[in-house]
Order: sequence, then C-alpha cells, then structure tokens
Amino acid sequence: MTQLSDHGPIDPPLLDPERTGPQQVDEAPAAHPDASWWRQAVVYQIYPRSFADSNGDGIGDLPGITSRVGHLRDLGVDAVWLSPFYPSALADGGYDVDDYRDVDPKIGTLEQFDEMVATLHAAGIRVVVDIVPNHTSNRHAWFTEALTAAPGSPARDRYVFMRGEGPDGERPPSDWTAIFGGSAWEPVGGGEWYLHLFTPEQPDLNWANEEVRADFRRTLRFWSDRGVDGFRIDVAHALTKDMSHPLPTQAELESGTHAEGQHRWEDRDEVHDVYREWREVFDSYDPPRTAVAEAWVPAHRRARYASPEGLGQAFNFDLLEAGWDGARFRTLIQANLDLAGESGTSSTWVFSNHDVVRHASRYALPTGTDLKAWLLSDGREPAADAERGLRRARAVTLLALALPGSMYLYQGEELGLPEVADLPVDALQDPVWARSQHTEKGRDGCRVPLPWTSTGPSFGFGSAGAHLPQPAWFAEFATDVQAARDDSTLAFYRQALAQRRRLQGTETLTWDDDGPADVVRFTRPGGWTSVTNFGDTPVPLPPGRLVIASSPVEGDLLPGETTAWVQQAPGD
Ligand code: NOJ
Ligand code: CA
Repeated sequence: MTQLSDHGPIDPPLLDPERTGPQQVDEAPAAHPDASWWRQAVVYQIYPRSFADSNGDGIGDLPGITSRVGHLRDLGVDAVWLSPFYPSALADGGYDVDDYRDVDPKIGTLEQFDEMVATLHAAGIRVVVDIVPNHTSNRHAWFTEALTAAPGSPARDRYVFMRGEGPDGERPPSDWTAIFGGSAWEPVGGGEWYLHLFTPEQPDLNWANEEVRADFRRTLRFWSDRGVDGFRIDVAHALTKDMSHPLPTQAELESGTHAEGQHRWEDRDEVHDVYREWREVFDSYDPPRTAVAEAWVPAHRRARYASPEGLGQAFNFDLLEAGWDGARFRTLIQANLDLAGESGTSSTWVFSNHDVVRHASRYALPTGTDLKAWLLSDGREPAADAERGLRRARAVTLLALALPGSMYLYQGEELGLPEVADLPVDALQDPVWARSQHTEKGRDGCRVPLPWTSTGPSFGFGSAGAHLPQPAWFAEFATDVQAARDDSTLAFYRQALAQRRRLQGTETLTWDDDGPADVVRFTRPGGWTSVTNFGDTPVPLPPGRLVIASSPVEGDLLPGETTAWVQQAPGD
C-alpha cells in the first residue's frame, strides 16, 4: 500500500494496546454501562476444529484458541463467536450436538473452556457461542432413549416422530426433502419415521414440548453462568412446526401459498414465543446476554427475530449475496439500516462464514458464476482472477466496516485467504457431498485449517498434520509472513479495525449521492467519509486526510475497486 499521498500519510497499523471500553451508543442508553457493546461490535467467527491445534492431533482445539488470543487482540476484534465445540460425531461439522452442556473431549474440557474465556476476557474480547436448537445429534441421550421407547411415548414426543404412509407405514409420511438432499424422513421400524430437515444424524426437536423448551433455557443459563456474553442461534427460523394432517407435499410447501407466518416449518409466527422466553433468561444477567439469529427469512420478517423482545439481532446476508454492484450495495445498506432502526436494533454485515465460498474467491469470479459448478471443477472453470478478488474483497470489507452496526468476520479473511477449491473428494467431510449424490462438494474449502507460519507441518496450525489438507500456497498467506509486512492484508485489517474503533460514533450516516452511480459514498458523525469506487475509472477523493484505503492510492484520485476513508479537518 502506498503510504503517502497528497492527503497526508496513512496511519501505520495500530495495535492500540490502550483499548478503551466498549462504545457507548447515543440512541440506546442502557442500565448497565456495557449493555450495548454488541451494537457496533466487530465479531470474529472461529471454527474451532480449524483454528489452532495445541496437541498435534490435526484437530483444532480450545487450548489452541487460548494460545492465539494475542492474534485476536492485535487484530482488534470486540468479540469471538465460536462455532460448535460440543461433543459430536461431526456428521455436520459439529452442528450435530450430542450434549449441549459439555465440550467435545477431542477438542478440550470444560476447564479449558473456562481458561479460554478468562484469557479472551482479559484481552477485552467477549465470547459468543453457537446454540443449535432445531435438532440434536442422533447420539444425544434423548434420541437414544426415543429409539428404544414406544411410539407415542414421552421420549418420542421430544422429537418429530410420525407414522408412515401405507398399510404398514412403509412409506415416509410425506415427500419432504432435507436441506442437504434426500428425504427429510428416516424410518426407525414399526412403520415409524422421524423428521430431519438436515442430515439423518440431526433429528429435529419438537418445540411444542415443554421439556425441550425448559432444557434449552437451562443450556443458555449454563453458558451464561460460565461467563459467555452472547449466543448465535442456528437455523432460528425453523424450530416450531405444524405437523397436523394432512401434510402438504414438497411442491405445496414451496408454492408459497400458505399465509405469512404459517409455513409448516419455516418462520412460523409462534417461534417468537420461544425467543420471548429466552429474552427473560438473557435479561436476567447483567449485562444482559446477547443473541444473533441465523434466520433465512425475507427482509421484512427479519425484524421480529432482531427485536429487543426477541433475540436482539439477526444476520442479514444481503451484501454477501449482492455480487459486485455499487447501486445494489447502496440500496441494500439503506434498507437494512431502516429495518434495524424500525426494530430498535443495529444491523449486521457479513461477507464470509463457514457455510459459503470465501469472499476473496467469490469476487475473483465473473458475476453470476455458479459456485457449486466452480467447486466441482476444482476451481478451474471459470478461472479465478485472484488479484482482483482480493482487491474487491478488501474494498467491500472496508466499506462495511465504515457502516453503523456490527461486522461479522470469518477466521482467515484477515489473511485474504481464498477458498481451497481443489480439495480431493476423498478428503471431503461435509455431508453435502454424499447427500447431494456427489453433485456438490460442499463447504470444506472455507474450513481448511489456518496457516500461522509459512513453514512447518500444517503451516503452524499444529505440530503435525491438519484434518483437511492445506495447499502449498497457504505459505504465502501465513500470519507470520503478513505480520512482518505493512502492505499485507493482515496489516490492512488491523489498521482498519483500529481506525474504526477510533472513529465509530453515533449509529447514523449521511449519503453523498452526487457522484457516479458506481460510487458508494457516505459520511459518518464526526466528519469521516467512506467512499467506494465499484467502477474501473478513478474518481476524485473527498477533501480531507486519507485515513486508510483498501488498495494503493496516489494523489487525489480513488482508483477503481477501492474504498478509502477520509477524515475532514475541523471546519472543512
Ligand atoms: C446452519 C449452520 O451454519 C450450518 O453449518 C449447519 O450445517 C446448519 N445450520 C444445520 O445446523
Ligand atoms: Ca488438537
């Protein structure tokens, strides 16, 4: 990155050892001084099995996370969100939970969890854990009990069991398909079947059952009592179901003819009764525990999940799905700010997570590329323009970091890591590969263990191998290489987060819409402007001091595919 311009020097990466406390937000005064910490937080998602391996067994673990807290502190994040670390046979990467109130012995113990939380808290970093309430694993004690219990028994009532069609119940109760492919029903003998919206190893719970509801409230308290600050709620839109007869067909389910909020399993109005109960649990702590919903629902339905009476915040994946389109970004940003404002919360922004192709690779591909087909071709067809992908990824990340609301980062994006698209099929772990009859490679390419050093076994992930194969080119993306260079993506993220912390204020922005349509420009309270050039032709920078840019800037022009933050001098 060019360090000098007519706008003055770009600040060097700041490590900000004197981190001040959480931002206090003007609009949302709260009883506890820390109660609003989440509203404009930067939350870093850790996929524990692929972050850092402390004992050389190839699997990332909790002591590994503890050993890398310095990286997170230097990066400057406000919180981490841990994907599931619970006991699991990993039928779905840990989203098949055997026991909600324990740690998988393969990756740690409860004591090591406590040590990790204490170390993160000592570094000023809050902890969010993943709650998976739609389904347990098929190894959960409840499901084992249900299998040996009689049809109609209380043990089976915790799940969604149903008699099959046909004289002996030999056909599934409906033709519903599971989200990862195949039937959503699995037979257990005697003409009985159970529902699984995901894999057969993930039986759906019955949220009409009070014992199920009480048990999850207990789980929320269990982790809150251990010092956890918040929760990410998996598949938050699917918990409650209407299984009354006759069941509609899959085609009828998808036809959209049901009344709003009355789909058989998706986004039912009554699911919010569950979250109102959870809110009582969250608010019984000081500061209140937070939650963010993973709810795949239309934008206008999101507010219910995000409301202060419910979970409090919800992911929006709009920018993640928007492609490279400035006008669309402009529209989606305002729409989401409006929605968040209406429901009294702050918006969320996200480009990458453990379920999607990493954004440095998405932006390297022509608009409209079928990502599943691209992965099936091992990333060869179409060819990726890696340099352009990273340039665009950095530009949109810096844009989103300038917005009011919370930013969710996914481990490795601070290194500019591309997707590992050519994983050999015999290494794939994602159930999507088998469930799709080998037509989709799935999500392993963004879950490859991180490179910490440019040499050594598993690039410093651990002292031996890694549970998914790492490519040789990981060496150039390693943390140690990037930490030594002030033009690296890691240095850029550190600098961007430090400047964001310094500049972030009231949750408002003013659009500066006078420029070309492919320029997205807005000013935040305190007099700093973020400008993104989605086009190829350089455009003039606003007057003021250049704080940071996502690509080299020379003179007064902002190059194409670049974002810059400019701070007005007092009186400008
Ligand atoms: C969403 C999670 O992000 C994904 O990884 C998982 O496969 C499904 N929910 C099922 O739990
Ligand atoms: Ca390990």
